[in-house]
Amino acid sequence: MARHFTRDWFSHNIENWRCWLAEFKDRPGVRALEIGSFEGRATAWLLENVLTDGTSRIDCVDPFRNDYYRRFLSNVEPWRRRVTIHRASSDAVVPTLSGAFDFIYIDGDHRPFAILSDAVHSWPRLKVGGILIFDDYLFVPHEIDRQRNVEWSEQRARRQIARHPAQCPKTAIDGFLMAMRGQYELLGQGYQLALRKLADPGADLSSLTFATVPEDRPSAPGPGPRRRGSLKR
Ligand SMILES: C[S@@+](CC[C@H](N)C(=O)[O-])C[C@H]1O[C@@H](n2cnc3c(N)ncnc32)[C@H](O)[C@@H]1O
Repeated sequence: MARHFTRDWFSHNIENWRCWLAEFKDRPGVRALEIGSFEGRATAWLLENVLTDGTSRIDCVDPFRNDYYRRFLSNVEPWRRRVTIHRASSDAVVPTLSGAFDFIYIDGDHRPFAILSDAVHSWPRLKVGGILIFDDYLFVPHEIDRQRNVEWSEQRARRQIARHPAQCPKTAIDGFLMAMRGQYELLGQGYQLALRKLADPGADLSSLTFATVPEDRPSAPGPGPRRRGSLKR
């Protein structure tokens, strides 16, 4: 069935996702949660390439305003019975979700407080050993990006983020990581940031040696810079 998307905020992540999420492919009973699903581009890719066992499922949380709800439904139609739709804001839904997830993707409201809230509410719902991916770790909101027509560069993004920390997702994600120090292993840090949960809050952390907080330095191999045209919001 032909799929219809008006934007592509996802394809540049595929190379990393294949690597980070390889362990879930063909595994039965995998549970995924996506905060911010839009037209279902990431959702459909996950169902086709990672949640490939017929018992694996995904919960999608998005207010789905306007016409893109119709497009989302059509794009995930082949897997519809394995998709649970929550048509609402994540702050109303995520705290109410039951069960534990193997993978959580945070790509909803990109204001720092909202990201922090999504991270804090998601973490207890992520299994120990599960994977959390934040989108837009190095996103610079358009209002403060004075060079929107210039090709994206990580160095420039980091400079702008350092000048406007209160408006950028990185501030919230770094704050969350500081608070969770010792409870995760960093899997990748580029335009997106991926980590594996090692422990629940309150666990005895003395035996955990993997955890690191990302330093403010050029990224490990990532999805590559987004072209200006694919940046969102
Ligand atoms: C960049 S898009 C997501 C792209 C999608 N993950 C993909 O790969 O194509 C961001 C989405 O977050 C949604 N969103 C914004 N605020 C939200 C909130 N508070 N809770 C859940 N979703 C939200 C928007 O409606 C939008 O569909």
